[in-house]
Amino acid sequence: MVLVTGGTGLVGSHLLLHLVRTGTLVRALYRTERTLPKVLKVFGYYADDAKTLFDQITWVQADILDIPAMESAFEGVEHVYHAAALISFDPRNFSKLQKINGEGTANVVNLCLAHGIKKLCHVSTIGTIGNALNGELANEETEWAPQHANVYAVSKYKAEMEVWRGCQEGLKAVIINPGVILGPGFWTSGSGKFYEVAFKEKGFYPPGGTGFVSVDNVVASMMALMAADIDNERFISVDENLTYGALLGQLARTLGKRPPTHQLKYWQLRLVQFFDWCLSPVLGKERRVTADTIYGLKNRSDYDNTKLRNSLDIAFVPLDETLQFSCHCYMKELG
Ligand SMILES: NC(=O)c1ccc[n+]([C@@H]2O[C@H](COP(=O)([O-])OP(=O)(O)OC[C@H]3O[C@@H](n4cnc5c(N)ncnc54)[C@H](OP(=O)(O)O)[C@@H]3O)[C@@H](O)[C@H]2O)c1
Repeated sequence: MVLVTGGTGLVGSHLLLHLVRTGTLVRALYRTERTLPKVLKVFGYYADDAKTLFDQITWVQADILDIPAMESAFEGVEHVYHAAALISFDPRNFSKLQKINGEGTANVVNLCLAHGIKKLCHVSTIGTIGNALNGELANEETEWAPQHANVYAVSKYKAEMEVWRGCQEGLKAVIINPGVILGPGFWTSGSGKFYEVAFKEKGFYPPGGTGFVSVDNVVASMMALMAADIDNERFISVDENLTYGALLGQLARTLGKRPPTHQLKYWQLRLVQFFDWCLSPVLGKERRVTADTIYGLKNRSDYDNTKLRNSLDIAFVPLDETLQFSCHCYMKELG
């Protein structure tokens, strides 16, 4: 039996689909029934028998901060995929991020140890990898530094530390560090926003760039790492290093829209930050553009995927294929 946390998210829902398709017995956590249709929707993108596949999952209602509820979810489980996390770049959410991503991961690790789990796969981020200097590619050994790290990255770094602590206490684990994950279904949050920005022909793009990866490659890598004789290592999962301009341009063209042409200047990013700071409390929205996120939007950080590619003998989907498919799903949903 396999346990998946974060099963109602972008990564978790795709992972669940891949797992049930391989006939794996799966238990998945959810917090509220409102989110379950999102999983069924994702299954529907890929399968005609989406409902049959969905019904093969045993759903357990539990928050990762609720240890008694989690206890029962761990009964009879051998392998755990931990994909649950709060993704927010709003400094006002710092304590919440530390709690869910840091303490939540500590709970998962402790339960893995207590229940003699054979192996844990923890989903981290490239945000916990340092920036390489002089245009070089960052790799798994590039040291992370808290300067310029956003609140989300700080909490995910804490989460990774909990996993390494678990390994010291005897747990077998692998950590995957994906770049920005692209895939269909979660259009209003996280990386899903890129589709909307491209579709609405906003016309501008930030100057920086980063690593991007197909959600299919992330989950295929997670499953392969769990099956492989590899423990206590971390792996960058990035398909392509792209500028934001190149990504938004590619999405716009696929959506039949005009690619953005205006590269935002630093002072313009600061202006956006100021308006974001003023308006977010009034509109009751999270802050997205902060001093730390500007650092990421302004600079280019490129990542080396050699370790993962050399360790796994699996077929990786070209990123372009995932973008085409996601855009197709996006347009279909718009009607
Ligand atoms: N998306 C990206 O571009 C990206 C890039 C790199 C790494 N990652 C990492 O990949 C993992 C999955 O991300 P995602 O894109 O799938 O995020 P997502 O779509 O926002 O999903 C997050 C999942 O975590 C669950 N969750 C949040 N707080 C929880 C709590 N307290 N208890 C139990 N479950 C909780 C959510 O449940 P609800 O549905 O109930 O909210 C949801 O299932 C995360 O660890 C994230 O840090 C994501």
